[in-house]
Amino acid sequence: MARKKVLVTGGAGFIGGNFVQYMVNKYPDYDIYNLDLLTYAGDLTKHKEIEKKDNYHFVKADIADRDAITALFEKEQFDYVTHFAAESHVDRSITDPEIFVVTNVLGTQVLLDASKAIGVTKFVHVSTDEVYGELDFDPTTFFTEDTPLQPNSPYSASKASSDMLVRAYHETFGLPINITRCSNNYGPYHFPEKLIPLTISRVLNDQKIPVYGDGKNIRDWLHVLDHCAAIDLVLHEGANGEVYNVGGHNERTNLEVVKTIISTLGKSEELIEFVTDRLGHDKRYAIDPTKLEALGWKPTYTFESGIAQTIQWYLDNKEWWEQIISGEYQNYFEKQYTL
Ligand code: NAD
Ligand code: DAU
Repeated sequence: MARKKVLVTGGAGFIGGNFVQYMVNKYPDYDIYNLDLLTYAGDLTKHKEIEKKDNYHFVKADIADRDAITALFEKEQFDYVTHFAAESHVDRSITDPEIFVVTNVLGTQVLLDASKAIGVTKFVHVSTDEVYGELDFDPTTFFTEDTPLQPNSPYSASKASSDMLVRAYHETFGLPINITRCSNNYGPYHFPEKLIPLTISRVLNDQKIPVYGDGKNIRDWLHVLDHCAAIDLVLHEGANGEVYNVGGHNERTNLEVVKTIISTLGKSEELIEFVTDRLGHDKRYAIDPTKLEALGWKPTYTFESGIAQTIQWYLDNKEWWEQIISGEYQNYFEKQYTL
C-alpha cells in the first residue's frame, strides 16, 4: 500500500511543531510534510531530532502564495491536510490586523482550493474556542459546537472567517473536512509572547509579570500533547463535515496561573504588575468536549501535572527560549508593555 502523505501547515510553530513531532514518531509509515513560512513565530531548531528521520520533510512556503501552494499540491498529491499555520497572537491582531486577514483568511482559502483540486481524503482545520466570543463567569455555561460564532478580536474574527470558508467548501464542493476548536494550549515550545511561557521566562529572570486588568479573566487550559492526540483522532475518525470542540475542563483565572508558576519556581508574588487591560478582553472561555469524548478522546494531563512538566521543560531548555527573547522579540516587548 502506498505511504500516506500528511501535510502539516505551521509545523515550525508551537502546536504544529508538537504535532509534526508526534506524527513523525507515531507513524513511521506516513510521510509528514511540514510547510511553514518561518515567520517570527516559527523556528526549525525544535526539530533537530526528527530531521534525521526519512519520513520528515520541510517546505518553506507562504500559504497565501497561490502559485507556490498549487504547484506543491500538484507535485506531492497529499492525502491529508492538517492546517495549523496562522497569525496566532491576539495582542498583535489589535496593533496590526491586516496580516491576520491575509494569512488566516486568504491563506486558508488558497489551501482549500489546492486541496479540492487534488481531492484530498481529509482537510482538518485547526481553529479556536475564541470564535465563539466570550462567556460570563457563570461556571455552568460552556461553549458547545452549536454556540453561535461571535468573535471579538481581529484574530478571532479572522479565524471565524476561515472556519466559515472551510464549512462552505464542504457544503458547496463536498470537500471532506473537520474543524476543531480548542481551548488555550500550553507546553513545550510555546512562544514566550503568550501568558504561560512569558511568565515562566520572566520569573526565571526575576522580571515583572504584566497581568492585564484585574487578572480575573478565565482561560481553559489544555496541554499541547492532548491537543495533538485530539487532532490525530479527528483526522482518522472524525465524521465528515463535523466540528469538534477540544478542552479538558481546566479553567483558571490568569492570576491563579501566574501565582502557580511563581510559587513552583519559589519566587515572590511581588513580581506581579497589574497593567492596562487588553482592548475587548474576553472574560471567560470554557469548552464542553462531550462530542470529542464520544470519539474516544480524553486528556492525559491535569493542569497540575501539565504545568509542572512545562515549567521543568523551560528549565531544561533555556537555550531555546533565550535565543527567542534576545532577538526581534525585544522590540515587540518594548512596544507592547511599559513595565
Ligand atoms: P504559532 O504562532 O506558534 O505558530 C504559527 C506557525 O505558522 C509559525 O510556525 C509560523 O511561522 C507559521 N505561519 C504564519 N504565517 C504563515 C504563512 N503565511 N504561511 C506559512 N506558515 C505561516 O501558533 P500556535 O499557537 O501553534 O497555533 C497554531 C494554530 O492553532 C493556529 O491556527 C491557532 O489559531 C490554533 N489554536 C491555537 C491555540 C493556542 O492556545 N495557541 C488554541 C487553539 C487553536
Ligand atoms: O483560546 C485559544 C486561544 O488561546 C488561541 O486561539 C490563541 O491563538 C492563543 O494565543 C490563546 O489566546 P489568549 O489571548 O487567550 O492567550 P494569551 O496567552 O495571549 O493570554 C492568556 C490570558 O492572559 C488572556 O486573558 C490575556 C492575559 N494576559 C496575556 C498576556 C500576554 C496577561 O494578563 N498578560 C500578558 O502579558
